[in-house]
Amino acid sequence: MYFPEYRLRRLRRTANLRRMVRETRLSVDDLIYPLFVVPGSGVKEPIASLPGQHHFSVDKLVEEAAAARDLGLPAVLLFGLPETKDEVGSSGSESDGVVQRAVKALKSDVEDIVVITDVCLCEYTSHGHCGVLKNGRVDNDLTLEHLARQALSHVEAGADIVAPSDMMDGRVAEIRDVLDEEGYTHVPIMSYAAKFASSFYGPFREAAQSTPAFGDRRDYQMDPANVLEALREVTLDIEEGADIVMVKPALPFLDVIAKVREKFDYPLAAYNVSGEYAMIKAAAEKGWLDERRAVLEALTGIKRAGADLIITYFAPQAARWLKE
Ligand code: PBG
Repeated sequence: MYFPEYRLRRLRRTANLRRMVRETRLSVDDLIYPLFVVPGSGVKEPIASLPGQHHFSVDKLVEEAAAARDLGLPAVLLFGLPETKDEVGSSGSESDGVVQRAVKALKSDVEDIVVITDVCLCEYTSHGHCGVLKNGRVDNDLTLEHLARQALSHVEAGADIVAPSDMMDGRVAEIRDVLDEEGYTHVPIMSYAAKFASSFYGPFREAAQSTPAFGDRRDYQMDPANVLEALREVTLDIEEGADIVMVKPALPFLDVIAKVREKFDYPLAAYNVSGEYAMIKAAAEKGWLDERRAVLEALTGIKRAGADLIITYFAPQAARWLKE
């Protein structure tokens, strides 16, 4: 059937018609809100590289998470900025560390929100790398026990899901083993399965004070040029016991999201990272983009590509817009 018999514009004529044939529906249920927790109390400091985002002390974090819950958001993802750093990132697994205290407070003071914790060493190591160094390089196998210890400490504090983001080989299996041994067979792992060595993490590293002191992360994070390798990463993480797999960043990697969606029937998350957020924020501030339309279009695009869950700093704002 060819033009002029079939005209695609017929179903675009009114808002109701468009609503009836819409293929992708973004929902507040899809969104996960990342939050940065710092020591102290009464702290709610704006983060310069992420306009609209803050460093929160535990008490203020509880308020922010409660507000997120009231907006209908199902989950938060926590990052910690510790008091001290050392070579092996020990402050990341202390039972009274900043994330562990935050998890306890959220679980006791905010009803009905899923608390996910980012598991990685980079915020806790003096050199800012995601693992333990040996001869000037991140040593994969030495790092695993540190990651597993940190994950366990988060779960002991009450974390509902742990999310390893370090990109060491074998860390999902190691974390699964330790959690199971300690009786936490019910706690899911959301693995940053295909995490690329991306320039779009810049604003986050400023926010998390986790820029590597030397070199870069290309020796453990993925080459942005690779998609087949991303599928191998996802395969391995699933075999090792991941419950949710993630592609990160989102917007420059929509094809990777789509391929993972096609090949695997596991819940799929995508991380709309700090640089993706900052780009829209900066352009909107200049009046070059309509922020609301740009954000909803970007998030809908990530969902259309195949993501079930989207981690985004826009979560509360998007939740508000989706309600209107
Ligand atoms: C590492 C980690 C990073 C992000 C989440 N976890 C940064 C990195 O790998 O350098 C980036 C998130 C973002 O850019 O929003 N633990």
